[in-house]
Amino acid sequence: MSELVAISNRVALPSQLQGAQGGLAVGLRAALEESGGLWFGWSGGVDERAGAREPRLQEANGVRYATLRLTRDEYERFYMGYANQVLWPLFHYRMSFVHCTDARLEGYWEVNRLFAGHLLPLLKGGETIWVHDYHFIPFGSLLREQGVSAPIGFFLHTPFPPWDVMRALPDHARLLRALCAYDLVGFQTAIDRDNFLDCIAHMEGGHIRDREWAVFDGEAARAGVFPIGIDVDDVAVEARRGFNSQQGRRLQESLQRRKLIMGVDRLDYSKGLRNRFEAYEALLERHPDYRRSVVFLQIAPISRGDVAEYEEIRQHLEYMAGHINGRFAEYDWVPLRYLNKGFHRSNILGFLARSDVGLVTPMRDGMNLVAKEFVAAQHPDDPGVLVLSSLAGAAHELDAAVLVNPYNVDEIVHGLDRALSMPLAERRERWHAMAQALRDNDIHHWRTTFLEALRDACRHSQSEAP
Ligand code: F6P
Repeated sequence: MSELVAISNRVALPSQLQGAQGGLAVGLRAALEESGGLWFGWSGGVDERAGAREPRLQEANGVRYATLRLTRDEYERFYMGYANQVLWPLFHYRMSFVHCTDARLEGYWEVNRLFAGHLLPLLKGGETIWVHDYHFIPFGSLLREQGVSAPIGFFLHTPFPPWDVMRALPDHARLLRALCAYDLVGFQTAIDRDNFLDCIAHMEGGHIRDREWAVFDGEAARAGVFPIGIDVDDVAVEARRGFNSQQGRRLQESLQRRKLIMGVDRLDYSKGLRNRFEAYEALLERHPDYRRSVVFLQIAPISRGDVAEYEEIRQHLEYMAGHINGRFAEYDWVPLRYLNKGFHRSNILGFLARSDVGLVTPMRDGMNLVAKEFVAAQHPDDPGVLVLSSLAGAAHELDAAVLVNPYNVDEIVHGLDRALSMPLAERRERWHAMAQALRDNDIHHWRTTFLEALRDACRHSQSEAP
């Protein structure tokens, strides 16, 4: 097996590998440890000093890690600017939040070029290169420009928007062309892949070959669907550990036999937190029986706090949380526990294991691994119920959840009521269907099918070559 080189904006450094990582980090780490290789990306730091340009190198378990720092200007134009105020809102269908300028646009390409340039001397030859996510769409094309001939695949963790949204992006043609420089482009759902192919079909010089090859100005990439999964056994083990931990027991004690509804999300406007809070308020208003008998725990660590829209939603949620608690709390019961901080992974999983309802209602989401983790964390004999947005990628596999349209607050209220009152037999039946879906497509399946498809796409391109 050839060595793997993974490129992603966030890199889970060996020092951070214990506990705090999500599915992407777990899956990539396993793939890299199996084949040996390199994980390359941003350190998460900003540094203006001369010399800060050199990648920081570390090694653990046969995996090399190389991270680069950004200057303040690059951070603002590339990460905060183009990645998170142009691509993120656009890919989540939130066009009114898109703020594009030439400086941001060029900053994005400059940082991609800078990173690609720093990767070149670290390549030994013979590797397979796997680029991740919206931060690095041009990366493969920039490596190709430098003569890299290795197989290069790309996986998009977010949704991909339809043509009529995509064409609002000032440099959509350049980005779509860059995607076609990969051998394989992977998406979370068939909707995302079809949106991409449709965008290519709309371009002058673009067409679709054999239903799955995107061809643009002579470059051809295969497009496929690879829904990301979780390590089911690892989540279950961590969840048990968290469940039995001191924190898990303290949560249990604090509930005093009340039912627990739980949400865990980065504090992001795409996660549907406003409608979720509104729905919870309406639930307590319309169903007085739930007052004092349920608690809603929402964990939402602050994210991208320098962006105005994130600050706005943060303020609004603080207002709503105060309002809900002010309206319904009793001297011995607080209906909503709203926490803006992160926890160790096993604590989160332990809290999810203790929950009667997992409330996951993004307005749009590439996948949403919390939905999958909630299911894997449940006890099969007495499982909780997942209330899931039909607009999350996870809904394609977890159709045995209580699916709700996150734009309709009343549907969320109804979904919560159904989940809280669901009989054990139905809970078990739904849980078994979802647990099977998680096992059929776990994180190992995700990476092996992607990497096999990448090899296959390369073989196919070679046999097509003139
Ligand atoms: O959902 C795609 C994703 O790249 C995740 O991997 C990650 O959680 C998030 O978006 C990026 O967040 P941040 O801006 O904090 O890196």
